[in-house]
Amino acid sequence: MKTIRVSLEDRSYAIHIGSGVLRSLPRLIRANGLGRVAIIITTPRVHRLLGRLVSGELRRAGVDIHILEVPDTEKSKSADEALRLIEKITRLEKSRKVFLVALGGGVVGDLTGFVAAIYKRGIPYIQIPTTLLAQIDSSIGGKTAVDTAFGKNLIGAFHQPRLVLSDTRLLKTLPRRQILSGLAEGIKYGAIHDASFFAFIEKAIDQILALEPGATSRLIETSSRIKAGIVSRDERDTKDARIILNFGHTFGHAVEAASRFKITHGEAVAIGMVLACRLSEKLGLLDAASARRVSRLIQKAGLPATIPSFVKTASILKALAHDKKFSRGKTRFVCLTRIGQTRIKENVSPALIQNLIKER
Ligand SMILES: NC(=O)c1ccc[n+]([C@@H]2O[C@H](COP(=O)([O-])OP(=O)(O)OC[C@H]3O[C@@H](n4cnc5c(N)ncnc54)[C@H](O)[C@@H]3O)[C@@H](O)[C@H]2O)c1
Repeated sequence: MKTIRVSLEDRSYAIHIGSGVLRSLPRLIRANGLGRVAIIITTPRVHRLLGRLVSGELRRAGVDIHILEVPDTEKSKSADEALRLIEKITRLEKSRKVFLVALGGGVVGDLTGFVAAIYKRGIPYIQIPTTLLAQIDSSIGGKTAVDTAFGKNLIGAFHQPRLVLSDTRLLKTLPRRQILSGLAEGIKYGAIHDASFFAFIEKAIDQILALEPGATSRLIETSSRIKAGIVSRDERDTKDARIILNFGHTFGHAVEAASRFKITHGEAVAIGMVLACRLSEKLGLLDAASARRVSRLIQKAGLPATIPSFVKTASILKALAHDKKFSRGKTRFVCLTRIGQTRIKENVSPALIQNLIKER
């Protein structure tokens, strides 16, 4: 088991990673004094696949368990769903101290964290991420949110979990498309921060795609360490350290929205990273060989490196125009200067961005 610390004074916590780390849950619950009643928030699919395993470990900690299900869709990240959960939690709480357990992917993690942040002005919660994306990225950092009709993650709060348990065994049932979606974020961490990690992914891509425990654990561990370091320096996204995590995301979000969410977040980020590399190249920051290396790894992984033909150029440009950063004329892009190193470029000409999209 590998343990990584997110250092945030009294909000510090540990991320435990490895095959079988779930077995440490009873000990960790007791050590963290988390409470007597665990309310697991999950989806029907994850409940069916992993509910018994996780409940069994929680029971060994001597806590009472309740399981609340939310529908298995991004639509569950809503204020209505959060209020529905709070109503149920109020009924279950009685006089005993409760804590929440987010058991699922990023949707369940963001929603559970948000409920934990607002219920009684904050109660403890732990993350047991079950998708590669959630283990690599979304379970760490305390950004919690729900979506509104006006945009994604518009209502939210910073609320750090008390513990993250990333057990690679939980990923066995994950569809390949979801594995790829998480892998895209892993490639991002290599590209923005760590050239040797990028080279490791290039070399171990087949083992990672087969979820071989050693390679998968290293992927999650290194990504988590990079994210934990960035979050420790910039918990609330105010010091410009967290911005590099957006590499590929401005383009990615626009392509994702223009596809009407028919492509996964990771697929959109993969396309976005290739576009961000091409932009870096056009701005004279990145050499062509490094840009090619990023796009080659994305293709080798089986992720898309170009905008799918069904996504219209006009829709992407429209989605970009809706992007707050873009429409206010303050175009800020995370570029690469080489693999493992970023540079933030301000005031990139909108015409340059539009041409890049038009070239596809
Ligand atoms: N808070 C953050 O810092 C942060 C960072 C990145 C993304 N996010 C958010 O994360 C969300 C996306 O997360 P996601 O990609 O994990 O999607 P998701 O939570 O929708 O999960 C994807 C699919 O995988 C299924 N699944 C989950 N675990 C499984 C398992 N073990 N076996 C089989 N199927 C399983 C789910 O049922 C779902 O259908 C978005 O809402 C995004 O905004 C948050």
